[in-house]
Amino acid sequence: MPNRAHRPARLRLWPVVVLLVLAILSGCASTRSPNFQPAVASAHPLATEVGLDTLANGGNAFDAAVATAAVLGVVEPYSAGIGGGGFWLLQSSDGRTVFVDAREKAPSQAHATMYLDANGDVHPDKLSVNGPLAAGIPGQAAAFAHISNHYGRLPLSTTLGGAIAAANDGFAVDEHYRTLAQWRRAVLARYPAARRVYLRNGEVPETGTVLRQPALAGTLTELANHGFDGFYRGQVATRLIEDVTAAGGLWTEDDLAAYRVIERTPITIDYGPYRIWSAPPPSSGGIAMAQMFGMMTARPLTTLTNTGLLSNDNQPESPSAGTARLHYLTELMRRAYHDRALYLGDPDFTDVPVSRLLDASYLTRQAGTIRSARATPSDALEGDFSAGTHTTHLSVLDQDGNRVSATLSINLPFGSGFLSAQTGVLLNNEMDDFSIKPGTPNAYGLVGGEANKVEPGKRPLSSMSPTLMQGPERSAIIGTPGGSRIITMVYLGLLDLMSGESAANVVSAPRFHHQYLPDVIQHEPGFLEGELGDELTKLGHSLTDVGRAYGNMQLIVIDHQTGQTEAASDPRGIGRATVVTGQ
Ligand code: GLY
Repeated sequence: MPNRAHRPARLRLWPVVVLLVLAILSGCASTRSPNFQPAVASAHPLATEVGLDTLANGGNAFDAAVATAAVLGVVEPYSAGIGGGGFWLLQSSDGRTVFVDAREKAPSQAHATMYLDANGDVHPDKLSVNGPLAAGIPGQAAAFAHISNHYGRLPLSTTLGGAIAAANDGFAVDEHYRTLAQWRRAVLARYPAARRVYLRNGEVPETGTVLRQPALAGTLTELANHGFDGFYRGQVATRLIEDVTAAGGLWTEDDLAAYRVIERTPITIDYGPYRIWSAPPPSSGGIAMAQMFGMMTARPLTTLTNTGLLSNDNQPESPSAGTARLHYLTELMRRAYHDRALYLGDPDFTDVPVSRLLDASYLTRQAGTIRSARATPSDALEGDFSAGTHTTHLSVLDQDGNRVSATLSINLPFGSGFLSAQTGVLLNNEMDDFSIKPGTPNAYGLVGGEANKVEPGKRPLSSMSPTLMQGPERSAIIGTPGGSRIITMVYLGLLDLMSGESAANVVSAPRFHHQYLPDVIQHEPGFLEGELGDELTKLGHSLTDVGRAYGNMQLIVIDHQTGQTEAASDPRGIGRATVVTGQ
């Protein structure tokens, strides 16, 4: 009897053994002759290092992205974390591309007028920006668990090890931290746990001060050991709700337990020989970029310049080629952001007219309204309107060609400023990305309408645009933080890549932006000065120097001919981009 019981079990082991041997052999083969030079680019050197270690220890790009993101959430408390959310664009080596929507959701007790006072005006306390009422139900922890379970090779307990160590051991305050903490010092000082962890005697800590986050390490450990349930159910959930409720927040344990990431189909854009994948609603990035590239196809810049159109319209002098390009790109941005304000919101709540917005004849009509030598005032665009420096990004490539572009956020620096003492979770303030009163600008000056009003369980409209590009010669993994300017930064980055620019040049190029309202071209200091600025002003554009550099682009570029990988981290930030060579 014992023997008979034993034999089938041994036989059943054979397929497993064969699979294991094949897996080991294929692993050895790919280690001997990698197809790709792996790379990690992220907004913090420690996070990049942990991402590279994860790849070196047998993780794939998806494991490395989770490990990198988790460390960013610890060492960049001003940017992202498990109290926030994000968008992840994953592409496996066989070309399958999936978008993981881990955007925060409005709590079940949220409602359209929750940020207005008795007169219907926006509450003077800025409740959508500061404190626990500003926070949506976080999606970041669910994204870690989902991506690890479905796409990773390593267990979450391994992948989150670097972040847990960073939270226990601490990280040293640098100038970047000091700048952002100064910005939000007053709100951090208001909440005792945030004051204790992120400040010293209510002031911004000196450079080199080591900040430890043991409560956050404990929460990450629960997540590492129990996956989704370790954060959204059980003791972490109970303590989080206790802290949030005591401070006047609306979250419930049911809100946490009901949170789910959603896998969505990315927006795919074909422009000339290029294919681009980017973020679908509730991001506005993919649609806005598809519209801008669609208008470029319908009415290329050359149709304005070659026909001499840019030199008539009563213009005393012809603008230079540089001015013509900037005018043209600004007009594309203006039209895309107009539609963003009017039509975009969470597709699970709002009927987003994606096919109409991307229809070639609609885009041809829109492009046709671009005046060749005159700015179009934003209020002249049709539509019934009644109806950085924070956030973070990482790009990862592994040796098999798996890719991740992920943009993660808690919204403004240090989110809502409210830290849950028992769990060490810093709450986001993504509720401010809703249109809290139609026509009233949010923290980024963005206006929105009915489609993006607050509703229970709804995701606020976002500009986060993790993006992948495939061209005949090169492909790229690209993204950046920067609020409403994210979309135009990625768009300009893609145009530079198509012009053959190096990764380093793309991330460091000067930036400008137009978002329909306010009706101004925003630009970095030093850019659009002199002749370029004068010519744009003559065309009827208003220019605003935004006072400081913005964005923190993390870019990986793969050259198909040479097989070389290039990676670059935006010089405006403190990040690091590393390519693994010589394997
Ligand atoms: N919180 C900025 C965005 O999602 O666009």
